[in-house]
Amino acid sequence: MKFFVDTAEIAAISELNDLGMVDGVTTNPSLILKSGRDILEVTREICDLVDGPVSAEVVATEADAMIAEGRKLAGIADNIAVKVPLTWDGLKACKVLSGEGRMVNVTLCFSVNQAILAAKAGATFISPFVGRLDDINLDGMELIADIRTVYDNYGMDTQILAASIRSVNHVAEAARIGADVMTAPPAVIKAMASHPLTDRGLEAFMKDWAKTGQKIL
Ligand code: E4P
Repeated sequence: MKFFVDTAEIAAISELNDLGMVDGVTTNPSLILKSGRDILEVTREICDLVDGPVSAEVVATEADAMIAEGRKLAGIADNIAVKVPLTWDGLKACKVLSGEGRMVNVTLCFSVNQAILAAKAGATFISPFVGRLDDINLDGMELIADIRTVYDNYGMDTQILAASIRSVNHVAEAARIGADVMTAPPAVIKAMASHPLTDRGLEAFMKDWAKTGQKIL
């Protein structure tokens, strides 16, 4: 499963990228706001830093304006994936932009039917929002599994990008189901390294090591 980082914070992307943990980046208008940066500037910096796809989201709601914004965003770098919302106009924009050979990430997906339409419109990525479904007492992971089944049934090659990942359990479950990609905040990716038994075991080893009175260096 590919790992995308869901942030527009350069330092956080850079730290994970140095460890080989970054296959791409996703941003959205809320993450741009949080970064306090200009969208064009920060997106260019992210594209320079990361080899994989960097999603940059349009903010227009009408197809022609989305297409114009998408072309401008795609002009930032070759690794831009234009992010469009899963609306009828977003699907029109997806069809045009993907037809021009650009990567398109169709975002704000909450149903299998929406995912089918995105694949038919030529989406490179479909972004089902797991956490936001869980927030309203629905099962976000069930949606990932259902899209996996339907896409496999018909050989649809749009990549399933599990988004709105909020916990380490979401990551493991998305991998088990076979999501092609997951995008998570840096804190969630770093938390994947933690286990209480690792901490307890290390503490015991350190205590015993101190009793040996030895040094390696
Ligand atoms: C995905 O592309 C979105 O940027 C993101 O995953 C949304 O996550 P949230 O629901 O935690 O805001």
